[in-house]
Amino acid sequence: MVVREVKPGIHSVGAIDWDRRLFDELIPLPDGTSYNAYLIRSSEKTVLIDTVDPTKERELIDNLVELGINNIDYVIANHAEQDHSGAIPKILQLHPNAKVLTNPKCKDMLKDLLLIPDGKFIEVDDGELVSLGEKTLQFIYAPWVHWPETMFTYLREDKILFTCDFLGSHLATSDLFVADEARVYEAAKRYYAEIMMPFRTAIKKNLEKTKDLEMEIVATSHGPIYNKPEFIINAYRDWISDEVKNEVVIPYVSMHGSTKRMVDYFVDALIRRGITVKPFNLTKTDIGELAMALVDAATLVIASPTVLIGPHPSVVYATYLVNALRPKLKFASVIGSYGWGGKMLEQITGALTNLRVEILDPVVIKGFPEEEDFRALDRLADGILDKHKTLNLNEF
Ligand SMILES: Cc1cc2nc3c(=O)[nH]c(=O)nc-3n(C[C@H](O)[C@H](O)[C@H](O)COP(=O)(O)O)c2cc1C
Ligand SMILES: [Fe+2]
Ligand SMILES: [Fe+2]
Repeated sequence: MVVREVKPGIHSVGAIDWDRRLFDELIPLPDGTSYNAYLIRSSEKTVLIDTVDPTKERELIDNLVELGINNIDYVIANHAEQDHSGAIPKILQLHPNAKVLTNPKCKDMLKDLLLIPDGKFIEVDDGELVSLGEKTLQFIYAPWVHWPETMFTYLREDKILFTCDFLGSHLATSDLFVADEARVYEAAKRYYAEIMMPFRTAIKKNLEKTKDLEMEIVATSHGPIYNKPEFIINAYRDWISDEVKNEVVIPYVSMHGSTKRMVDYFVDALIRRGITVKPFNLTKTDIGELAMALVDAATLVIASPTVLIGPHPSVVYATYLVNALRPKLKFASVIGSYGWGGKMLEQITGALTNLRVEILDPVVIKGFPEEEDFRALDRLADGILDKHKTLNLNEF
């Protein structure tokens, strides 16, 4: 990524990863990503905020050379995960006088993960100010977005909040600042769904903590920079709110078409009742799409055949993931088919331990659905409609 000026004295020096398609060996990245790092040159100190993924170390170093940087005083580590911290050892090797400024928890993690020696660190307190001469940094602890050690750095004079992963998006784009809001909204929502959703409560606290800061710019470490911070902050307020939408999400798999016939019927039944429905064939969807749908939905209906006594393994995976992501769902149910018997239903409901959902009457049938099975699906659709009405969800 070329070096670009964010504001006078502040440059973006990170890297765009156009080709990356998987993160944490788990999360699909249809639009690639970027690892943003920022260089601040003030009258007395030169500071690097975060680094890049080790695979892009060369680009960061080239960018610093291009800016003519031969001395870095401080490297700020807002987060210990390697996509931002991974190049710190290299920077410390090239700039032996540099110190890593971070909170004690992040320091411990960087020592564990990257084997950085203790003497390289300066610990900063929550709220602490560090003068760079004409510019001042303020550190704001922001735990659990999405690791225990995460923090933000605020550059007072320029009113820039550096949030690392928080509010970011996995999006490779040549736009330094958000240009296409619709595209960034989708990417940021996907990012929220996959990475941040389990931490809704922590996000509420951290947003509250920053609400009195004047913010002209929010500079994240993935995706384009926000020069209208209210765009992303309002989106987050919606996503983390306790409000759910009149939506049903249906992850499903079917080997021989029985469960599929049930899902097709059920999708139509919900549409007829004015409910938004999002079915995800788990053999075709990417799990990010499923995660995004879970940001808003009131109800989850998992659909599976019975395979070797339990749910289909793809459904086990999806159920595990849904449970781990802790979406704000209110209701859940199960539909599906079996040949002779098993524990598919119990294993699915038993796996939803993190969700505070009311389980609605499931529809688990033998073989291919018949008339009475469709009536049972109608009753489940009616039940969902009633429940959504009791919550006064939008359209009613
Ligand atoms: C590999 C495999 C394993 C199965 N294991 C079970 C089982 O343990 N218990 C059961 O009741 N049915 C079992 N079945 C039967 C299916 O659950 C049944 O045919 C169901 O109707 C399939 O739904 P589908 O058409 O949506 O794939 C198995 C089927 C397959 C192909
Ligand atoms: Fe992270
Ligand atoms: Fe990250």
